[in-house]
Amino acid sequence: MTTRRIYTLAALAACTTFAACGGADSRDTDRTSIAANEPTSVMYFDSTKAVIPGAAVASAAGGAAAAPNGAELFTRCAACHQSTGLGVPGAYPPLSGSEWLLNNPEVPIRIVLHGLQGDITVKNTKFNNAMTPFGDQLSDAEIAAIITYERSSWGNAASKITAEQVASVRAATKSQTTPWNPADLKPLISK
Ligand code: HEC
Repeated sequence: MTTRRIYTLAALAACTTFAACGGADSRDTDRTSIAANEPTSVMYFDSTKAVIPGAAVASAAGGAAAAPNGAELFTRCAACHQSTGLGVPGAYPPLSGSEWLLNNPEVPIRIVLHGLQGDITVKNTKFNNAMTPFGDQLSDAEIAAIITYERSSWGNAASKITAEQVASVRAATKSQTTPWNPADLKPLISK
């Protein structure tokens, strides 16, 4: 259900013209519609496969691996929350100015690790949808980088999140096997 909704939204976004939807268009002699129709290769950047000159040298020399790039990883969240951070009215809540994101860091960390489902009010607007969990797909450092990016974008100005903070929330909530209900996390916002 949720997945179908994303595809629909992605299709709407990509299909501004018939040609952009993959249809043949004789006016498009240089086939720019093909390039316009291939956003997915950019959407799912796999940091483990990227060749970053210098990173190998650094680790060979015993240095730390390059820190994950929160802006790049955010493309995974942007499918729903949009690159503007404004979400989609009636479907996906905004991250820009969200009280759930910008207060106690434990709240967004828990949401990204285990997902979220149920009635939620964000910036005085109600939503009732589901967010998939990311705990199995993203490392502590990656989750820290994404949340740090979100807390400092679109006018947001909240503190940085560390991989250690994510690791401790991950350990403390490891018995959580289903998405959180927003009502369970609400009391934590102001802690
Ligand atoms: C499948 C679509 C989807 C994706 C992908 C997604 N979210 Fe969400 N997110 C939602 C929905 C839907 C809610 C509200 C859930 C509800 O209605 O209970 C939500 C709620 C949230 C909230 C709390 C409410 C708010 O607006 O601040 C945060 C924080 C959040 N998501 C962060 C993220 C981050 C970080 C990522 C990427 C790692 C992400 N989301 C990826 C759909 C998504």
